[in-house]
Parts: sequence; C-alpha cells; structure tokens
Amino acid sequence: MTATILDLEKELAQARSRIADLERMYRWFVSSADIISALADFQANINIGLNPEVILRDARGYIGQLLPVEALGFMSAENAEFDFEFVDVTPAQSREALAAAVEGAIADGTFGWAIQQNRPVVAALSEPGKTLMLHTVGARSRVWGMCAAILNINDDALSDVSLQLVSIVLMNAANALESRRLNAMMQNYSRDLEQAVEARTAELIEARKAAESASDAKSDFLANVSHELRTPLNAIIGYTEILSDEVREEDSQSHWLTDLQRIYKSSKHLLELIDDILDISRIETGQVEIVKEPFQLGNLLRHLIATIRPVAGEQNNVIELDLDVNPDIVVSDRLRLRQAVLNLLSNACKFTHEGRIKVSARDEQIGDRRWITIAVADTGIGINAEKLEAIFEPFVQAERSTVKRYKGTGLGLTITKRLCNMLGGDVDAVSQRGKGSTFTIRIPID
Ligand SMILES: Nc1ncnc2c1ncn2[C@@H]1O[C@H](COP(=O)(O)OP(=O)(O)O)[C@@H](O)[C@H]1O
Ligand SMILES: [Mg+2]
Repeated sequence: MTATILDLEKELAQARSRIADLERMYRWFVSSADIISALADFQANINIGLNPEVILRDARGYIGQLLPVEALGFMSAENAEFDFEFVDVTPAQSREALAAAVEGAIADGTFGWAIQQNRPVVAALSEPGKTLMLHTVGARSRVWGMCAAILNINDDALSDVSLQLVSIVLMNAANALESRRLNAMMQNYSRDLEQAVEARTAELIEARKAAESASDAKSDFLANVSHELRTPLNAIIGYTEILSDEVREEDSQSHWLTDLQRIYKSSKHLLELIDDILDISRIETGQVEIVKEPFQLGNLLRHLIATIRPVAGEQNNVIELDLDVNPDIVVSDRLRLRQAVLNLLSNACKFTHEGRIKVSARDEQIGDRRWITIAVADTGIGINAEKLEAIFEPFVQAERSTVKRYKGTGLGLTITKRLCNMLGGDVDAVSQRGKGSTFTIRIPID
C-alpha cells in the first residue's frame, strides 16, 4: 500500500516535470513562432531602408529570445582595412569579456573557420557553463561582419533548431544591411544620372540655340546674297541682250556676237545656280510652304512643255505629251509641282541630243486616295546603275566628264525630291547607260 502511494507520488512528480518540460517547449515553440512571424516584418522593413543600428538592434532582440545571451556584439568588417571591429556590444560593460573571448577564437582558428561558414559556430569557453557563438553577417558573397555572443549554456546543450533560427535572423539582418547599401548606391546613381541628364540637356539646348542662330544667319545671308548677286546679274543679262541687238543690226557676222552670246549664257547659268541654291536653302530651313488648291493638270503640263520646247529644240529633241488623267482636275501645290516637273524636263533636254522626250501623266486610285504619276522619259545618255542612287543627293552629278560638258549644280534633283516629299509623294529614276532615262513623280492628288 505504502509502496503504491510512493509509486504514485513518484509518477505524479514525473508527470509534473513532463508537464513543466512540455510547457517550456510550448513557450519556446510559441516564442519561435513569434520570431518567425516577426521576421516577416523585418523582411518587409528591409524595403524601407532601415538604419543599420535599428537592424542590428532588432536582430539582437530576436537572438535574445532564442538563446540565453549574456553578451552580444556585432563586429563590422566594412572599413578600409577589412578588420573586424566591434560596432555594438550589449551590455556595454561586457565589451572586454566578449573581446577576450573573440581574441581566443581568433588565436585558435575558430574565428577564421566561422568566417567561412554561413551557420553558427559554437565553442566552449574556459568558464564552465559558458559558450561562445560566432555567426557571420553576410548576404550572398558579401560578408558585412560577425555576430559574437557569450551564451549562458553548455555548448552541447544548445538546440539545433534555436541555432537554425539564429541563422535565419542573421541572414535577414544581412539582407537588410545589403539592401540598404544597394538602395543608397542606387540613390547615388540616380542622382548622378539626373545630374548628367540635366547637364547634357543644358548642353543640347545651348547647341540647338547656336545651331538655330547659325541657320537663321545662313538663311539671312543667302537671301541677301542672292538679292545682291541677282541685281547686277540681271543688269549684265539685260545689257548683253541690248548690246547683241545693236551689234547684230550693224553687222550680223560680227565676231563680237559670239563673245556677247558667251557672256549671256554664263550669266544665265550663274542666275540658275543662285536660284537653285536659294531654293534648296529655303526648303532645308523649312521656309517653303505648301498651298494645295484644285487646278487642271493638263494646262500645267501643256504650259510647261511650251516653255521648255525652245530648250529641247536647241539639241534637236522632240517633246511630246501623253495625258490620261480623268478628271483632269487635281488638288496639290501647283507651283511646287511645276518646279519639280520643270527640273526633270530641263535635265531631259540637257542630257538628250537628237532624241525624244515624252511626258506621260496617269491617275490611279490606291485605297481611298487618288494618285498621279508624271513620268519624264528621254532617249538621252542615261545614267550608270551605280550612280542612280546618288543623283538625288545634293551637289551630286553622275560623272566628272558630265560636269565639264553639261553645266549644273547637282541640286535640281535634290529640289525635285524634297518638293515631291513635301507634296506627300516621291520621285524615282530608271535608266540605262546610252539608252535613256525615265524619272517618275508620284503624288497624292486629293
Ligand atoms: N535625264 C537625265 N539623263 C541623264 N542623266 C541625268 C538626267 N537627269 C539627271 N541626270 C544626272 O543626275 C545628275 C544630277 O542632276 P541634277 O540634280 O538635276 O543636277 P544638274 O542638272 O545641276 O547636274 C546630273 O548631273 C546628271 O549626271
Ligand atoms: Mg538639273
């Protein structure tokens, strides 16, 4: 009976201590769960870019809940010498004891070993019941520093789970430190970038101002110069005509007539050059305005051919018109179209001898728009295939020998192309050396 009571009391005591154990485990479990859930906040705070002091303080708090910490310090290696220095020891009066423990670990190689681990390294201290724990604080490949703690527990009594949780806490702290560093770096970069962009923008504004005033000055200059040149040239042309008439009246065979004719032709040529240069500079500086109005295409082309026929006749060329546009009324800029076609016609006359020049006009409906094509075909000298691309570039003439024999600036086709583009269309060329060339303008006409 007595034995039974004793047995029962013993069992009761065992049960109580089991309950106490279970309670302890339960509390540990609850506080671990707290820490784990708190770590989520920690993680969330990382994005705000916390102060390092706050990050370390929080980490220390969590570790204190996991382990019986007597003293805990963080050593940073973020200095020029990559030396580990204590930046924070709690409580402060334990600094020396902790430093001494770390010195010992450095001396016996434990510290060096710990640097290479991403987990807690523990070592028994000489004082019984005390353990040194070392754990790197680092994110990915970057070691920020070391966490060192003196624990009031025997090293073999430490639970693996608690140590793993310490690892998680310290990795989170390291991530927070790293993300703060990256944030700061990014802010610097973006500030530098903003400054660079501002500086560059200012430069560009200056450059544009300079370019604009240069371009204004250029157009003013060209407008003035062309006026200054045109006036005397027109006088030369006028007087040459008068002189020619007078000389012809006195002696139609006079050798003066040939010279006067040369003066006349050169002056005319010079006038054309000036007009071309002025035209292209007005187009390039956006001073040419497109004014669309309805007009009769047939009238325009017939007038043009009448104007150019004497020029065509100079080299015994015949010129004909093939018009098939219905209705004949089109909407475009009459003057600009006239100029574009005239340039093609004067080229055709210039580069064709005893041949035929044919102007064909057609209209067609493409989608909901009406277009015309005006083709100027000649049976003249033609253009080498490899030059065909370049002739629409300013100042380009197909060959050097051409330049000598045929006068010109190499601007006519450039002007024509620019005008066609401004009218919403384009111009292209098909040619065969020795056989002739066809230049075709395509523009919308409604
Ligand atoms: N109908 C054509 N036949 C042969 N060559 C041509 C013809 N039209 C233009 N070209 C070539 O294209 C070059 C550029 O023409 P253009 O821009 O009008 O300048 P320019 O007539 O002042 O030389 C001409 O120099 C010539 O070599
Ligand atoms: Mg020309």
